[in-house]
Amino acid sequence: MMRDDQGLIDAIEQLSSEPLQLLIKAIRLKVTRRARRSVGVPGRFIFHSDTLAGKGPESIIRTYVDHNGLRKFLSEVPGGLKLQRVSELGCGYGRMSLVLTEFADETWGFERETHLVQMAQRLVPEVRFRNVGSLASLPEGDGSFDLAMTFTVLMHMTDTDVKSTLAEMKRIVGQGHILLMEKTEPVDLGNSEGNGSDWISIGRQIPTWEEWMHPWRLLKTQVRPSVFEREAYANIHKEVNDAGTYMLFRND
Ligand SMILES: C[S@@+](CC[C@H](N)C(=O)[O-])C[C@H]1O[C@@H](n2cnc3c(N)ncnc32)[C@H](O)[C@@H]1O
Repeated sequence: MMRDDQGLIDAIEQLSSEPLQLLIKAIRLKVTRRARRSVGVPGRFIFHSDTLAGKGPESIIRTYVDHNGLRKFLSEVPGGLKLQRVSELGCGYGRMSLVLTEFADETWGFERETHLVQMAQRLVPEVRFRNVGSLASLPEGDGSFDLAMTFTVLMHMTDTDVKSTLAEMKRIVGQGHILLMEKTEPVDLGNSEGNGSDWISIGRQIPTWEEWMHPWRLLKTQVRPSVFEREAYANIHKEVNDAGTYMLFRND
């Protein structure tokens, strides 16, 4: 909330007629919404369609590269993949779920932000999107999916949240595949010491993912090329050119 807004509210509050109180409520709601949109709410940072994968031209190029990358990765699994039911956790507006539909009979997307789920349902009607409170607790049975994927989701979580989300992915798949496309370069951005209300972006190297995924086996990896991330990292870590790694795990 801006200091000027608060001053205005305090001044109006001195005058206590009913219409004025209603006006105060409306102003409060508006400034709170504005503040939430920019900095998140306590306990959680809120993603919007233009903060998922860059804005405008950046997001178009980023998504072209990501669609090609995911399609290539899934097409080249040794022995092939036979998928009936697949899911994306933290699917945003369905940007990447769309590619999963090419490989499975049924695709599901789980997302905690209502505004993104509504957008996804409108843009990608072939996917079944569900609004969930947490990715660590999904309304799905054990072993109900052949594959579960996260795409740039766990990198925005603390270690504790990552581990509980991975446990839920293992539960809903049981025997099958888990695909993680997460940041693996040793670069942390944002306030990773924070309480979860700030934007964070944590790079965890492949051996960490293997340890956390145990006893699932890492079958194959593929680099996600940098698009605009190279520029974003330039001042921090000059030799980093990648923007994450596709990692496919299997449990027999
Ligand atoms: C960077 S976006 C990626 C969206 C989508 N996978 C894509 O590539 O377009 C991360 C998504 O995960 C969702 N999410 C759900 N739970 C989260 C959590 N605990 N921390 C961070 N993001 C979370 C966010 O709302 C957001 O839609």
